[in-house]
Amino acid sequence: MQYEHVLVDRQGAVGVVTLNRPKVLNALSPALIAELSDALDRFDAEPDVRAVVLTGGPRVFAAGADIGDMSERGPVEQLQRDQTGRWARIAAFSKPLIAAVNGYALGGGCELALMCDLIVAGDTARFGQPEINLGIIAGAGGTQRWPRTVGKYVAMEINLGGAPVTAQRAYQLGLANKVVPAEVTVDVAVQLAARLAEKAPVALRLAKESVNQALELPLSEGLAVERKNFYFLFATEDQKEGMRAFLEKRKAQFKGR
Ligand code: CAA
Repeated sequence: MQYEHVLVDRQGAVGVVTLNRPKVLNALSPALIAELSDALDRFDAEPDVRAVVLTGGPRVFAAGADIGDMSERGPVEQLQRDQTGRWARIAAFSKPLIAAVNGYALGGGCELALMCDLIVAGDTARFGQPEINLGIIAGAGGTQRWPRTVGKYVAMEINLGGAPVTAQRAYQLGLANKVVPAEVTVDVAVQLAARLAEKAPVALRLAKESVNQALELPLSEGLAVERKNFYFLFATEDQKEGMRAFLEKRKAQFKGR
């Protein structure tokens, strides 16, 4: 499949999607979001791809929604061109999704990173919600995912103040899993993804689902989801293989069944 605004690559069991509108700092036009969502759908359906890295390239992750595309729209037009479904499909990606962020991850670009499961930040990364400076607010999860990640007060600072945080601060806040030199951000993310790709795919999927449910549900309901997923995994060949391999002191060969 040929795309205009994203590049798609495979490194073994790891899929790599690169946002590719460098002239406008990877501004997230509806066409780009449609392609990104399609590329992720294809990786989701491909059993040999077991984890995916999402990056924007060496200097910028994404500077947000395309302001040129939005500037003259009215609310009804915005509603009719609603991107919610496409964003929701990205957030619902079922395999581990790792953001490799160099440079600006602003507005929708930051929200995209926040939809990923892990974030590897290059030391040049800057995360923020500058929508307030445009007279709007975040529209793809920025007011909701920041407080769930870093708490109310930092989320207020980010969403009301509009200034981005550095990679190092993002790490201290628990937003980034690692900070690495910008030249190796994608490599580190791919290595991390490759390690996850060796795990049992169904268990990975249910671990991701269970953790995400922790952000949606009261504790007792979240624990019920976890318990059902835990029991379900005893129906998989990979559970038998994983436990036998442990007892036989060998490396497990997981098949995703
Ligand atoms: N949309 C459209 N074009 C953008 C863009 C965006 N979000 N961000 C940058 N560009 C364009 C610039 O207009 C410029 O184009 P020209 O060369 O044709 O002039 C080009 O990309 C390079 O940008 P700058 O010259 O501004 O680069 P800089 O290094 O001086 O500044 C920046 C970088 C601080 C990121 C600055 O570009 C900036 O502030 N961008 C806008 C960030 C922003 O407000 N994002 C939120 C968008 S709204 C949103 O995302 C809503 C949502 O929740 C979904």
